[in-house]
Amino acid sequence: MKRFEEKVVLVTGGNRNTGLDIVERFVRDGAKVYMCGSSAASTERGAAILASRGVEGVVSQACDISDLAQVTALFDTIEKGSGRLDILVNNAANQGLGHGGPLEMDPAKFHEVFNVNVIGGFQVTQMACNRFFMKQETRGAVVFLSSNTAMRAIRGRTAYCSSKGAINSMVRALALDLAPLGIRVNCCAPGYIYTERWDVLDPAKAARRRLNCPLRREAKGSDIANVVAFLASSDSSNMTGEIVTCDAGCSCQHMPEDVDV
Ligand SMILES: NC(=O)c1ccc[n+]([C@@H]2O[C@H](COP(=O)([O-])OP(=O)(O)OC[C@H]3O[C@@H](n4cnc5c(N)ncnc54)[C@H](OP(=O)(O)O)[C@@H]3O)[C@@H](O)[C@H]2O)c1
Repeated sequence: MKRFEEKVVLVTGGNRNTGLDIVERFVRDGAKVYMCGSSAASTERGAAILASRGVEGVVSQACDISDLAQVTALFDTIEKGSGRLDILVNNAANQGLGHGGPLEMDPAKFHEVFNVNVIGGFQVTQMACNRFFMKQETRGAVVFLSSNTAMRAIRGRTAYCSSKGAINSMVRALALDLAPLGIRVNCCAPGYIYTERWDVLDPAKAARRRLNCPLRREAKGSDIANVVAFLASSDSSNMTGEIVTCDAGCSCQHMPEDVDV
């Protein structure tokens, strides 16, 4: 029997980059997977990429997770299609890029990032619990995607780093309240992940980033999918409220090698 056979999984932001690899991982391990992007066009693009990779049976539906009506519609689809949900992966994120520094950024942009990363993640989780997990004998597992920038900030990304810190705290708070109910909530905190954004990166900058990693490489989406799969599976059945860092050792070093004297 495959690891996630008979399991139903929802991956938010499953239409692009890391989300695609997470979706693929669950499908290859036997799960029925639902995924969403924020718009119809981006979701359809993701569905086409999955089909081209031979990843079959995925149900995709556009859902802006910051919009409760769209979240409800997505859960209606899951209810109609599968009647249950076992695993929720809160992967979708607003990267908060191009906002400028904290002195000049528009505070409305800060709201946008929090509305997706924090409020969106919360309301999808709440709906997963109330509509499915609490009604099932085998409750459910939630995995959030945070970031190592929750612990060590990066420049020009105030809203994003703050939102990831909030996710880490939310994971612990949710885990505490939901543990007596049999629902586990854990989190993977990645460092650099190879995405399409690396394709247009100055090679010197990419090399510098890799030098910043003790393991000398960024994560592949599949590295992150491995951690997510572990946290979603019964292999981690005694873990909840954990933030598992997957960042090639970046967080354990004081300084990158070339400035370490
Ligand atoms: N890439 C990294 O180096 C890195 C490092 C640390 C942590 N992480 C975290 O790991 C996760 C995956 O990263 P990634 O780089 O693969 O992400 P990404 O390329 O930025 O993709 C973000 C995903 O979230 C979706 N999304 C954005 N806003 C949404 C909304 N309002 N409603 C629903 N979906 C929405 C996007 O859908 P659309 O296509 O419709 O926009 C897209 O699928 C994220 O949580 C990210 O913060 C990434």
